[in-house]
Amino acid sequence: MRITTPENDIQKVLFTQEQINARVKEMGAALAEEYRGKQPLMVCILKGASVFYTDLCRAMDCGVFMDFIAVSSYGVSSKSTGVVRIIKDLDSNITGRHVVIVEDIIDSGLTLQYLKELFASRKPASMKTVCLLDKPCHGGGIGADAVGFDIPDEFVVGYGLDYAGHYRNLPYIGVLKREVYE
Ligand code: IMP
Ligand code: MG
Repeated sequence: MRITTPENDIQKVLFTQEQINARVKEMGAALAEEYRGKQPLMVCILKGASVFYTDLCRAMDCGVFMDFIAVSSYGVSSKSTGVVRIIKDLDSNITGRHVVIVEDIIDSGLTLQYLKELFASRKPASMKTVCLLDKPCHGGGIGADAVGFDIPDEFVVGYGLDYAGHYRNLPYIGVLKREVYE
């Protein structure tokens, strides 16, 4: 691991702050239409989705409730195992409620699949998954109902996404140089 500065470590910018803002506004407007009057419970999957989540919720001009769940994949590799550990569960009871799960990125899709199954067991009135970024091939897991951007199979950081905790506060999304994490 060789982390220096974003100028050195980012190979290229995939989406600028302006591109992200425009897309998130569109996604928020679509969700507001769909959920108007339903008081959806917006669920943020910490920590990666946090930046997207707060922008998305503010782009919805309808009443929403907010709640947070923190999960961690077992193991240290950058690949998901599909076994998810709940670090912090929701505070809310979701039974009978309209739940929107907000995730940052789908790689294998296993994290989302696990959470969807967990939440389904709590009997919400409805459930939708919204994800900012989607990689091309899901290794056994599921995709999201709504996606912000499709991206190539590369490791990206910024706008909430990290490598070893770094780069979450970059205002853009960029591809991390391989030499930083290999
Ligand atoms: P999945 O279970 O394989 O879909 O993994 C999803 C999780 O892996 C995301 O919530 C991220 O935390 C992490 N992840 C996958 N790809 C990337 C990436 O390119 N950059 C940063 N985190 C990633
Ligand atoms: Mg994540």
